[in-house]
Amino acid sequence: QSPIRVALLGGGTVGGAVARKLTSNADALAARVGRPLELVGIAVRRAGRDRSDLGVDPALVTTDAEDLVARADIVVEVIGGFEPARSLILAAMEHGASVVTANKALLAEDGPTLYAAADAHGVDLYYEASVAGAIPILRPIHESLAGDDVRSVLGIVNGTTNFVLDAMDSTGAGYSETVERAQALGYAEADPTADLEGFDAAAKAAILASLAFHTRVSSADVYREGISEVSAGDIEAAREMDCVVKLLSICERVPGEDGDGVSVRVHPAMIPRSHPLASVREAFNAVFVDAAAAGELMFYGQGAGGDPTASAVLGDIVAVARHRVAGGRGPGETAYADLPVLPMGDA
Ligand code: NDP
Ligand code: HSE
Repeated sequence: QSPIRVALLGGGTVGGAVARKLTSNADALAARVGRPLELVGIAVRRAGRDRSDLGVDPALVTTDAEDLVARADIVVEVIGGFEPARSLILAAMEHGASVVTANKALLAEDGPTLYAAADAHGVDLYYEASVAGAIPILRPIHESLAGDDVRSVLGIVNGTTNFVLDAMDSTGAGYSETVERAQALGYAEADPTADLEGFDAAAKAAILASLAFHTRVSSADVYREGISEVSAGDIEAAREMDCVVKLLSICERVPGEDGDGVSVRVHPAMIPRSHPLASVREAFNAVFVDAAAAGELMFYGQGAGGDPTASAVLGDIVAVARHRVAGGRGPGETAYADLPVLPMGDA
């Protein structure tokens, strides 16, 4: 059996964890797919670094990502950001490779271009890891609930901000010192702006709303407020009301006389300590889905970090590899071009 060739673009927190699991779990993955998965290369930005933590033959590490995407059946993009991630994904599809990505920023900004390219080249585009780390949430919404009518998706989808707000609540510490602690623990990045100002949560909310309501929502459509204005005094005031402050992502279908609209927003909110979301601690995530027939569903788990995110990436790799073995492609996001774009409105 010829192997299915997998190329990793990025060998950092997520890419490194994916590489280690692809290697250490190779036999089990081959059995689950029906064919071996061969890691053909890992593209990184900086040459000459010690990459022994990746646990692979050093000859597999390259700085020539363009060459690598031309040699793979599945390209896993875990570089992040817009360029070169976007161009590499499009090049991979042109070469006939299916793509797995964790890149919520890119998907929420320019998803339709990527979906159209996947359609044009008849390949898969899977991105479960882009929202809520290890939690299986996108395929349940996009596939399992495809026959239902989702009314709302509400949740905590940014681990860094939840860690900061939780630590401020439990220790009484101020915002700046708590952010520094989050950075020291590796939750917040050196430049934590995307997390703290709500951009990361807004991108995830755009992806959730697009899938839940079968429409297109981009980052720019999302009302966004981060947590940088939340003070120790605000947390204390919430505590006196038996509440906690959480950064919520709220996606709602808004019924209207001329048809439904969509409201998507991210902002800090006070919630009662008795509410299930109040018990989401540290860098964990939780998502509540309300659908007409299913009723309320709750998803909870680790929303960030190498291994938890790698779990979702590997699930996507197995899914698209199985499609290759079966000679087809999955539901992906194929029908986007024909879906109505619902108007954005106020809830
Ligand atoms: P890192 O910064 O840890 O890793 C990025 C990797 O990409 C590094 O190996 C880097 O190379 C490589 N890279 C950067 N630029 C280029 C380039 N031009 N060409 C080739 N390789 C390049 O990021 P993460 O692993 O944390 O995140 C990756 C993606 O996963 C992002 O989209 C992120 O949003 C998403 N994600 C991350 C989660 C997390 O918890 N970390 C959770 C869910 C999603 P080098 O090693 O040389 O610097
Ligand atoms: N920076 C993100 C977070 C990583 O803190 O949730 C997971 O997407």
